[in-house]
Amino acid sequence: MRIGIPRQTAPGERRVALTPDVTRKLVDGGHTVIVESDAGRRAGFTDDEYRDAGGEVGPAAEAWSADFVATVTLGDPLPDLGPDAVLLGLLRPFDEPDRMRRLAETGATIFAFEAVPRTTRAQTVDALSSQATAAGYQAALEGATAADRFLPMLTTAAGTIPPAKVLVLGAGVAGLQAIATARRLGAIVAAFDVRAAAAEQVESLGASFIDLDVERQDETQTGGYAREVADDTQRRIMDGLAPHVAAADVVVTTAAIPGRPAPRLISKAMVEAMRPGSVIVDLAATTGGNCEVTRPGETIVHGGVTIVGDTDLVSRVAHDASRMLARNVASFIDLITDDGSLRLDFDDDIVAEACIARDGQIVHPRLVQEG
Ligand code: NAI
Repeated sequence: MRIGIPRQTAPGERRVALTPDVTRKLVDGGHTVIVESDAGRRAGFTDDEYRDAGGEVGPAAEAWSADFVATVTLGDPLPDLGPDAVLLGLLRPFDEPDRMRRLAETGATIFAFEAVPRTTRAQTVDALSSQATAAGYQAALEGATAADRFLPMLTTAAGTIPPAKVLVLGAGVAGLQAIATARRLGAIVAAFDVRAAAAEQVESLGASFIDLDVERQDETQTGGYAREVADDTQRRIMDGLAPHVAAADVVVTTAAIPGRPAPRLISKAMVEAMRPGSVIVDLAATTGGNCEVTRPGETIVHGGVTIVGDTDLVSRVAHDASRMLARNVASFIDLITDDGSLRLDFDDDIVAEACIARDGQIVHPRLVQEG
């Protein structure tokens, strides 16, 4: 199979969908890999490294006209796909359904990582998890850097400085990695999530779980994801979180409901009750933010509190985030090939569920319903 790896065109996107080491494995497996010139440069991978790994380096048109194209995201304008094209990427299908409909019209077969089921067998294909891991790690570091405090306790000749308090809201994949990273830096960490399973996961990382008097969700009923909570529950959550937010030096928010605006967890008044010099890192900025004053794509200061709404945190660790994504891409390629040739098997649940469009039609049930 001819595999195309285009250079990313979305603003701020530094990742690449395939790395030289994974290119080598695919080439050894009988595939041809065509990498657009400079595709890996901003993630720290040179054209020569892809060539040394057995890949071909060529212009954009060649990468995009391969049998199978793996991209990180889609920039503007949308690619000009032919009806035989097969595309995979983090395409934001549930956040940008109109773009999916336009892609579907090309007749191409479109796969989105966001639609891969959260099952044990699909773990190696789960790019949402691999990239959330990178985002959570980086969010903790951004918080540590922007705060005016040390994270660990320091005992020095100049006295003892107590550890900083880090609060993580939303303890999914990104939140748990933010907790682990802040713990490694020595902070005292507390966290909250609406999913019942989160409490044990938080505590296993040495953080404390904030137990608010609200119903905890059993996510085994909803494919691993949280549901939106009712308005009065949301208000009770915010009231319960208010003293914890006020006491925190660093707050990392990661709460999300797939395909929905991010739940609001921190109001303007709650920000204004924080100590000047403290920080909020809002990982949900791309879907509107968990904090009322977040400005997506920007870092602002409100009443002395820094609110990081930057949407390129994963790209700040583009090298390793790309290494993880490349393995997710290679695992998906394994599912859609037989003896080195493309063979789409829609009886495979991962292949079927990840498919957003084919034969000119949107096929993902969630987008069909909304359409
Ligand atoms: P996500 O990115 O959709 O959401 C992040 C977190 O925000 C979730 O933990 C969610 O419960 C929480 N959240 C939503 N609304 C909230 C609210 N109002 N207040 C507080 N928290 C709120 O979720 P992510 O990280 O993609 O996955 C969530 C969970 O799915 C994982 O922790 C895991 O249990 C499960 N999962 C299972 C996998 C598997 O079985 N292979 C793979 C990946 C995840």
